[in-house]
Amino acid sequence: MDLSFGRAIRSRWLLDPEIIFLNNGSFGATPIEVLEIQHDWQRRFEREPVAFVRQHLHHELRNAAATMAAFMGARGEDLVFVENATTGVNAVIRSILPLLDPGDELLTTSHVYNAVRQTLRYAADIAECIYIEVPVPFPIGSAAEVIEAVRRAITERTRFALFDHITSPTGLVFPVEELVQICKERGIMVMIDGAHTPGMLPLQLDELGADWYTGNFHKWLFAPKGCAFLWTAPERQAMTHPVVISHGYQKGYLAEFDFTGTKDWSTYLSAPAGLAFYERLGGGNIYRYNRTLALDAQRVLARAVGVTPPAPQEMIAFLAAVPLPSTEATEVAANRLQQWLFDEHRIEVPIFAWDGHLLLRTASQVYNEAWEYDHLARIIEQWIARAD
Ligand SMILES: Cc1ncc(COP(=O)(O)O)c(C=O)c1O
Repeated sequence: MDLSFGRAIRSRWLLDPEIIFLNNGSFGATPIEVLEIQHDWQRRFEREPVAFVRQHLHHELRNAAATMAAFMGARGEDLVFVENATTGVNAVIRSILPLLDPGDELLTTSHVYNAVRQTLRYAADIAECIYIEVPVPFPIGSAAEVIEAVRRAITERTRFALFDHITSPTGLVFPVEELVQICKERGIMVMIDGAHTPGMLPLQLDELGADWYTGNFHKWLFAPKGCAFLWTAPERQAMTHPVVISHGYQKGYLAEFDFTGTKDWSTYLSAPAGLAFYERLGGGNIYRYNRTLALDAQRVLARAVGVTPPAPQEMIAFLAAVPLPSTEATEVAANRLQQWLFDEHRIEVPIFAWDGHLLLRTASQVYNEAWEYDHLARIIEQWIARAD
């Protein structure tokens, strides 16, 4: 494969050539050749749907799970496919409901992904628990600030904690190894939401020591949309159930998750094709290229806004968020700016209203180039000048 990245490789995606696409973070982007492999799986299924499900599905799914697990330092039998990280989180949080007592605390941080926040709030409502969102600052000086904030917030009533590996609105790499350890030392059940991690950071799931870890393959590992996993520590598998209960109930973790009703399994079965694409490009090449772009993006955008980079380099992988000067840090203002960038400048980049700031968050994937962030920075300078 030609290893030139940027525009040289962009034709491998269906991405609109008219758009500067700086938002791989929201849904990922699937290469055409992976979509073609997905289509091959669909054709194989449609040729004889019954035989496919009865004779091949289990074996093919388990093969795909074993391949993906090996890439993440895990055993195939601990990994199941789910549609997305939201579903992985929901499966776990609903599974722990019977273990919760009124007054127990469910803990996360202020950088939590909003859908996950709502799932935790739902659990707290049902089980009469207390939902705790630990404030973690942004701009931030070091990962130690996350650890300290969490350490201080834990109490004797903390029962379950959920931490992002890479945060959504702020794009930070959180020190999950230390956070997991803090929880394990105190007997707190701990889940990591690694929605962005596969393909962005190396994983050693067996060594991490979390109770649960969920992550998407469709964001950064080039898989088709709706392709994610849930990893569960062996001692937690008996209590962990999918969101949809089906024939496999009480027949074991894999039986419960591997069949939750008829669906298009081609997404899951194509995960190894996404991984193969990643490996052909070279994980190390991807990491160096994307991270360099992300650090450049952080630098040029911070300069355009007139602030110092809001996070240290060790907390940056492929996402970079910068706070924008704005008197109106609302969702309406965020959507207005995002739409203006798209309509007037053909730039796709997310803007979030978060903790009293408007945040602009870039993503860097191999089809991006440095000039795209420079161009965005010039537009942001114009937007600031216009607002003054
Ligand atoms: C930290 C985090 N968790 C969960 C999700 C949800 O991912 P999905 O839409 O694939 O469920 C996202 C999506 O951006 C995320 O950033």
